[in-house]
Amino acid sequence: MDIKYTDIVSLFENALAQKPQKELDEVGIVLQVGDNICRVHGLKNALYGEVINFEGGNKGIIFNLDEDYVSIFLLYNHIPVEESEVVKRTGHMFKCGVSMDLLGRVINVLDVPLDSMGPIKFEEYRNIEQPIAGVVDRMPISQSLSTGTLSIDSLVPIGRGQRELIIGNRNTGKTALAINAILSQKNKQVYSIYVSIGQRQANVARLVQTLQQQGVMDNSVVVAADAGDPVLTQYLAPFVGCTIAEYFRSKGFDVLIVYDDLTNHATAYREMSLLLRRPPGREAYPGDVFYLHSRLLERAGRLLGGFSITALPIVQIQADDITAYIPTNLISITDGQIFLDTRLFNQGIRPAVNVGLSVSRVGGAAQTPAIKRMTKSLRLELAQYNELLDFAQFGTELDEISQRRLARGERAVELLKQAQFVSYTFVDECLMLFLLKEKFLDILPVKQIHEFATHFVSFVQNIYKEFYDTIYKSQEITDDQYQEMFKIAREFSKLYVPKK
Ligand SMILES: Nc1ncnc2c1ncn2[C@@H]1O[C@H](COP(=O)(O)OP(=O)(O)OP(=O)(O)O)[C@@H](O)[C@H]1O
Ligand SMILES: [Mg+2]
Repeated sequence: MDIKYTDIVSLFENALAQKPQKELDEVGIVLQVGDNICRVHGLKNALYGEVINFEGGNKGIIFNLDEDYVSIFLLYNHIPVEESEVVKRTGHMFKCGVSMDLLGRVINVLDVPLDSMGPIKFEEYRNIEQPIAGVVDRMPISQSLSTGTLSIDSLVPIGRGQRELIIGNRNTGKTALAINAILSQKNKQVYSIYVSIGQRQANVARLVQTLQQQGVMDNSVVVAADAGDPVLTQYLAPFVGCTIAEYFRSKGFDVLIVYDDLTNHATAYREMSLLLRRPPGREAYPGDVFYLHSRLLERAGRLLGGFSITALPIVQIQADDITAYIPTNLISITDGQIFLDTRLFNQGIRPAVNVGLSVSRVGGAAQTPAIKRMTKSLRLELAQYNELLDFAQFGTELDEISQRRLARGERAVELLKQAQFVSYTFVDECLMLFLLKEKFLDILPVKQIHEFATHFVSFVQNIYKEFYDTIYKSQEITDDQYQEMFKIAREFSKLYVPKK
């Protein structure tokens, strides 16, 4: 048969004309791959942030749109991607599954359960980037979120909807403090989400075990992106956690979310930006790392209707330097910080809260009235004590008032020490602070203070249960109740026999 050249061309043209042009555009080809990132040619209409499917089963998200190619970060590092592999657009952004069934579960950012408790039924899939509620949609923070830690609830109180940064060197009890806050939400209709970013798997496993042992896992979700996971999943983890938190909030619950820690998150994002060849800025972080964290943390808060997301981001610093780039960013984004001090930690003052450097910019307004009444002068007393302590180190003779202040300060510091995973109710805290405020502890040797205070609390819980419950319900202490407390404390002091 005699086929002309022009015929072949027209045959091709006809064939192409029948195929919708759009479909051709949806497919691209991998040009280059390495370091969990690949360049793909041919995805002309692709969007920033769009999810891309690879022929070989991998998935990725677009992070750069160049003229001739797009740069895609991969979601799996165990599925190989080859050059010339075909990829397809999905037309949607990265989504995560949400459902009430998530409570009690440990998942990764790809909705895969890590706890061998079977598949999870999701109610819907939501974009992990959501618009942030404006000023008009928000409500003032007026309810307290008890963290179960005496030094936090009395000195740096946190309100529901607040964002409070936990900042400190390595190994200063940052995670322990956040876990205590989660433990304290038991039986309180507050759901907790713990987002682990770039930590060792063993740490996460230990944490889950603790939550289970303490009976709070049923009210919690753990989202984990371990140090060994692709850098993209570490970047996504806090956004997935936040999306789940927003879902719970939309269902009418208060939520507590812990991001452990955003230093690793920033490092993951820096790695991605450098691989994308974006210009490095201060400490080699990209210029938009502030926006990264602000758009995450602005999603916390209390909305009209009264339901809230309280965020406890954690940031690790080096050699006490709170002026590094990421810590200063986070300090300015959040509503206060809890500074954990290595020096105090090593002295055995745990939780090692440095009262001078810790603040809560809104919590005071939301502090439970009963605790507020007990803590009026505590901060000042501690400040005076710390000042005197420096002075006393010179071995100078101190006058009587200073000596008394030192003795009181010493007792306050002793009382604020708290073992790991021991969480107090606010009434327990009130009772202990009462003992300090009304000088019941002044006559005791420092070593006995803890025992005395904890025994007093159990004494009230058991013998004066009604009194205890009334305060628990009203959250306030009336003048009469205050007098009653005096009576009970005197009675207890007489009965108390210290352990030998
Ligand atoms: N209140 C406490 N009382 C006694 N020990 C504590 C207390 N809080 C924390 N610890 C201990 O201190 C160690 C460090 O705690 P944790 O892991 O919470 O610190 P971190 O700051 O989160 O550390 P990293 O920087 O490694 O994340 C742990 O061994 C923990 O058991
Ligand atoms: Mg930690």
